[in-house]
Amino acid sequence: MRFDKLGKNWNNFAKADPLWSILTEDDKKGNRWEDEEFFERGKKEIEELIEYSRSLNIDIKRGMALDFGCGVGRLTQALAVHFEEVHGVDISPRMIELANEYNSHGSRCVYHLNERSDLKLFDDDTFDFIYSTITLMHMEPKYSKNYIKEFLRVLSPDGLLVFQQPNEMIVYPGDSLIRRMKNKMKTDLPILGYIHRYTYARLFNPDYMNAPLMEVYCVRTREIEKLIRKNNGKLLNVIDDDLRHMPAHRSLRYHVTK
Ligand SMILES: C[S@@+](CC[C@H](N)C(=O)[O-])C[C@H]1O[C@@H](n2cnc3c(N)ncnc32)[C@H](O)[C@@H]1O
Repeated sequence: MRFDKLGKNWNNFAKADPLWSILTEDDKKGNRWEDEEFFERGKKEIEELIEYSRSLNIDIKRGMALDFGCGVGRLTQALAVHFEEVHGVDISPRMIELANEYNSHGSRCVYHLNERSDLKLFDDDTFDFIYSTITLMHMEPKYSKNYIKEFLRVLSPDGLLVFQQPNEMIVYPGDSLIRRMKNKMKTDLPILGYIHRYTYARLFNPDYMNAPLMEVYCVRTREIEKLIRKNNGKLLNVIDDDLRHMPAHRSLRYHVTK
């Protein structure tokens, strides 16, 4: 999906079923997420993340945090418990509107609509902590890679950057050769998979073309390592990030400093 379509696509999700478009669990489709349970998930995720970050022996400063691809603020709100000021950034106006409605931390949570493919709205070395999850994977790698470069620019010299990105489609034991080849193709040449899907969908359900689309892109770890190195980052470690609603992908979480 081209960048100029990305914001509109997410805004359509945000208007139709915002919480499900963020955590796509089958039984929650059709606006069936309860706010409390949804935000509780965010709280738990951030607590575990902070706990894990401590185990990296990094003394995270508790000043400014950034939540990139913040949606309705599920994680931004949780980060505000641990940081003095948290900035949530999203490409969808409706998501930002909802994030402001859900905000219970007043001016300590600032939400920004950013419809650009960079983070020019922030100065260099601004954030002590940057977190981005289930966001970079939904855009073409040329865009996600540019945001990673931008994260390193706006990260403070002793800050910590954590982001999630799928590495590959999972091959399960017993998968046929054809399925293995298809998964490899979807990982390394996703465009072929999408051409197939668009053609198929147009033939059998013309309405499909107007519905919002959730694309998922994988980026190989070696490419991310290269990108981090090139932008003067230091990759501390990479761990499996088990996302229960994404069984088809191997998702990884990267921990990076400058
Ligand atoms: C699946 S949701 C995840 C929301 C949030 N990270 C969470 O876990 O609760 C992905 C979010 O990323 C936003 N998004 C997609 N592309 C973006 C971009 N280029 N810049 C900023 N936000 C983007 C979407 O509007 C959506 O709110």
